[in-house]
Amino acid sequence: MWLPCGCASKCVVASLSRRVFRSYFHVLGGRRHNIAAFMPESAGFEGVSDCSALQEFSVSNSESFWAAAARQRLSWISPFHTVQDCDLSRGRIKWFEGGKLNVSGKIIFTSNQLVRPRGSLISPYRQLLEMTCRLGNLLRRHGVKRGDCVTIYMPSCPLAVASMLACARIGAAHNVVFAGFSAEALAERIRDAQSSTVITVNQGVRGGKLTELKKTVDTAVQSCPTVQQVFVAMRTENPVAMTAKDVAMEEEMQKEDVVCEPAAMDSEDVLFLLYTSGSTGKPKGLVHTQAGYLLYAALTHRYVFSYHDGDVFGCVADIGWITGHSYSVYGPLANGGTSVLFESTPIYPDPGRYWEMVQRLKINQFYGAPTAIRLLLKYGNQWVHKYDRSTLKTLGSVGEPINTEAWEWYHTVVGDGRCPVVDTWWQTETGGICITPRPSNPDAEIVPGMAMRPFFGIKPALMDTEGEVLTSNHTSGALCIAQPWPGMARTIHNNHQRFIETYCQPYPGYFFTGDGAYRSKEGYYQITGRLDDVINVSGHRIGTAEIEDVVNQCSQVAESAVIGYSHNIKGEGECNSVNLF
Ligand code: PRX
Repeated sequence: MWLPCGCASKCVVASLSRRVFRSYFHVLGGRRHNIAAFMPESAGFEGVSDCSALQEFSVSNSESFWAAAARQRLSWISPFHTVQDCDLSRGRIKWFEGGKLNVSGKIIFTSNQLVRPRGSLISPYRQLLEMTCRLGNLLRRHGVKRGDCVTIYMPSCPLAVASMLACARIGAAHNVVFAGFSAEALAERIRDAQSSTVITVNQGVRGGKLTELKKTVDTAVQSCPTVQQVFVAMRTENPVAMTAKDVAMEEEMQKEDVVCEPAAMDSEDVLFLLYTSGSTGKPKGLVHTQAGYLLYAALTHRYVFSYHDGDVFGCVADIGWITGHSYSVYGPLANGGTSVLFESTPIYPDPGRYWEMVQRLKINQFYGAPTAIRLLLKYGNQWVHKYDRSTLKTLGSVGEPINTEAWEWYHTVVGDGRCPVVDTWWQTETGGICITPRPSNPDAEIVPGMAMRPFFGIKPALMDTEGEVLTSNHTSGALCIAQPWPGMARTIHNNHQRFIETYCQPYPGYFFTGDGAYRSKEGYYQITGRLDDVINVSGHRIGTAEIEDVVNQCSQVAESAVIGYSHNIKGEGECNSVNLF
């Protein structure tokens, strides 16, 4: 069952069942570690006695580490024969070749024991499986095939998750477009992805306001000749005008069988595209593939947040962003976890919204963005103190630098000083968290505003202006990653050359992140911000070139330049300078 949180704009709890393996003793942030219990597949790794040693092992014995993790954590239809075949300088990245699996099978079939984590949460496992299968069959009946790309333009809701999983189940790639984007932005992404199928809802509900998502899709598809069909689910009860291309989704799903044979996908088949902004030109459709992405999302979710079976994980990001993909959907569900889908805003109906939800749903790990923390801080502590937050164990931050004031407030007021705050650095390109205070240095005190240490298998490098690796500490440079990892993006859809030029050529042999970083005397990393023309407004990544393109479409504008400026809540704001004729 999906449990709405009771407001017009709702959040939903997906309570999925416990994995069958026993729960291992592990204290993150505490003193005692039994490394084999912490990560069972590491039991055979020689000389590995704690998390730091495991991190070093995972980098210097990358193949052994990832092979063991993939064998233990993923359910294979047939096993892989090659752990990795990567050449970063050419942008060739392949993991677990020869293996076949189905990502939706993994998510759904590990979770078939009913669990009631506590109180009133009831497993929706059966419902999610049923929705996914009915929808998978419906898509198949309408001609969607393995290898096709389906665009999803929906708010965070169970049907959106089922839509992603239904695509995965039948071997189609999904392309989720954030439901706040305009018709033009949506159309551009549909055209680039060459989708013939779009899934949407009649209306969205956000912060107490209705948004006309179906109407936006109608406008968008007028300039998308590839689109043949639009599946429309009903998020509200308000009727919607249907066109010849439209299919009433829930109604048609009811006619479908609840069993849908999962496609046996190759490890390197495309799982999804996700568009993100670059410094120049159009948004890039980053491509993530099946096995490596799922493995990386699952491992980071479990270990960065110290997620234990039965915990309730609350990631408040929208599924339209990579954070929603990896930490609302794939990571938690692959771990058989309970994931809260949040559809609202931090201040609707009031600034206690997050903490009311923490109390009512007994959330154990809360993952949000600094921009929201800064906003809530301004409303005062009373909104936090009003609610019981004793279930919280870990607080996460993502998307932009978290300033010390916001970090301290998050730690002392929200977390009552007892929960580690994990400032997690990563990107759409990296698939999952790459630099994070936990778990690789679990005994070290967390430094406010620092992402600190690399996750397992991640080897960061800082480059100077000459392109040389900086080896000393207490230094700043361009942040690169020195060796491939399974979660990284494989290419840019339809533009591998751009992938190579953007990520592989700036520092040959390294993956270039586009960010700058400082490495402290202790060897801890702090992200200093983008090195290119990408600005970060409320944790949302925006290319200045994209805004300039739109401004320049205005016939009275000859030239425009967009720059970011410092904004005390949004991090950065965008400032347009326009030259008229
Ligand atoms: O500049 C970094 C910033 O967000 C960028 C990635 O944006 P996107 O692909 O939209 O993914 C956001 C969610 C993972 C990065 O290049 N960024 C992300 N996390 C942090 C951050 N900047 C500072 N600290 C972080 N923890």
